[in-house]
Amino acid sequence: MADGPFSTVCKMLTHDIILVGGGGAGLRAAIAAAELSNKLSIAVVSKVYPMRSHTVSAEGGAAAVLRSDDSLDFHAKDTIFGADFLADQDAVEVFIKDAPGELIQLEHWGCPWSRDPDGRVSVRAFGGMTVDRTLFASDKTGFHMLHALFQTSLKYDNIARYDEFYATSLLVDNGKVRGVAAINIYSGQLEVIAGKTLILCTGGGGRIFPFTTNAAIKTGDGMALAYRAGAALKDMEFVQYHPTGLPGTGILITEASRGEGGWLKNKDGYRYLQDYGLGPPTKEPVHRKMELGPRDILSRCHMQEYQKGRTFEGPYGHYVHLDLRHLGEEVINKKLPFVRELASKYVGIDPVYEPIPVRPVVHYMMGGISTDVNGKTSLEGLYAAGETACVSINGANRLGSNSLTECLVFGARAGRAAAQYATSQTPPAANPLTALAKDEQQRLDRQFLRKTGGKEQIATIRQEMQKAMEEGAGIYRNEEEMKKSCNTLRQLRERFSNITIEDRGDVFNTQLIAALELDFMLDVAEAVAHSAQNRKESRGSHTRTDFPKRDDENFLKHTLAYRTPQGPRIEYLPVTITRWQPEERKY
Ligand code: FUM
Repeated sequence: MADGPFSTVCKMLTHDIILVGGGGAGLRAAIAAAELSNKLSIAVVSKVYPMRSHTVSAEGGAAAVLRSDDSLDFHAKDTIFGADFLADQDAVEVFIKDAPGELIQLEHWGCPWSRDPDGRVSVRAFGGMTVDRTLFASDKTGFHMLHALFQTSLKYDNIARYDEFYATSLLVDNGKVRGVAAINIYSGQLEVIAGKTLILCTGGGGRIFPFTTNAAIKTGDGMALAYRAGAALKDMEFVQYHPTGLPGTGILITEASRGEGGWLKNKDGYRYLQDYGLGPPTKEPVHRKMELGPRDILSRCHMQEYQKGRTFEGPYGHYVHLDLRHLGEEVINKKLPFVRELASKYVGIDPVYEPIPVRPVVHYMMGGISTDVNGKTSLEGLYAAGETACVSINGANRLGSNSLTECLVFGARAGRAAAQYATSQTPPAANPLTALAKDEQQRLDRQFLRKTGGKEQIATIRQEMQKAMEEGAGIYRNEEEMKKSCNTLRQLRERFSNITIEDRGDVFNTQLIAALELDFMLDVAEAVAHSAQNRKESRGSHTRTDFPKRDDENFLKHTLAYRTPQGPRIEYLPVTITRWQPEERKY
């Protein structure tokens, strides 16, 4: 066999803890582990340079209770209510309690939270939150948070980085996760990175849909890695549409625009949300219900306006207006400068003078790898945190600004738990792991780089997958469309085995990476579609026209999807209810 990128597996690289993912949750976990002991060697393996992780694009803010008009119970109740009672309430309480400390800690690490004239850290209103509790750094919160985390991580000599390494499979020895096989994208070499424990923090998989705020890197890699190794994916049917994305690109126009008082108007210039039980308009500058209703409800209202013929039509489909003009230039420049920049650059609209066209866009996955409150999964040695995990605090619908905080709280907890676990483990043995990596090398050669005669194009399969997801697992769902999507996804999985890769090179083989990402996305897409088809009720973001009501009797439970060769196997798990009994979710 000729030499090529996968003709050899490199010498094993050994650490105590391996983190896959270098965004908010991954870096927070790395710092927590490094703080626990400077004797632990920690590897951060990321397919991009950490500052390019998707956390960087978060805009609006991070929620926590910091002020005297607020309470931990208020934040917990808002979160549980927003989740349509599918959140585990013990996990929510852990989250709410740890949140303030994490955000204060981040300021000490250099995050420049915006401040009020009296010097206090500012808080703004956010959807579904009954009290202003969202901290922000102008409207570039993710950038500043990630920067603070990244620069903090640099001061620990025991954190090593593997930037631009693409993880292809978890290495499981004797029932324990002991490492990862990863392609060094620069050299094309398959590396074995071994450890006593591994934490997945790779974000969500919004790219399984055609129209999303998610960066191109968000392909559900961590979810698929864990799923393939035998872990359950929990509550995958719950996919969040954010009501205000820019048509065409899907770029996020932050909810902070409405938190600062922006209005949503239909083509008649009418604030239509008052027609959906969220009104009437008030004299208050910020309306807690209408424009700050939760995202699932606002996205459905948009679709209903569309069905009534009250939306605009443009080259990228239907849209409504987000009107910020009444806020004035000074407020827009101070609080929403990035919104002004994005609208100007991408749709040629200056929001000081004109309303911004917006429409619902896939933004976030409430589901993910099932974990406990310390990030522990059902696979020994494997932890997960951030959007790739499902603890679960977000249930059927996440409230905006809870997810940046979630990355910090559960990243830190997973980092500490994994570090403690690592101290009780012996170092991984080279033999089984290099043998496993050789198998992985052969798989990659066979399926991709040395394969001949493949006819299917990556882009075609990806587009058909995204179309199937939008049609079957969009804002409104029904049995027939979901069934069709499940069937299409199965056929696409078959067709994927006939994929063609023209690029046989080793340096920056982006075609190979695209194929591997698509392979993972097909798994994640199937888990979403089957979980959705099996949930015969409407709850949070999962809205079925054929089962329009929430059904607590039969579905107040988490979905668990397990991978089998025939497709996902679905099981269920009870939801933990502590102090908040399920009631009708009305705003
Ligand atoms: O609109 C936003 O700024 C999004 C925030 C979030 O998803 O938490």
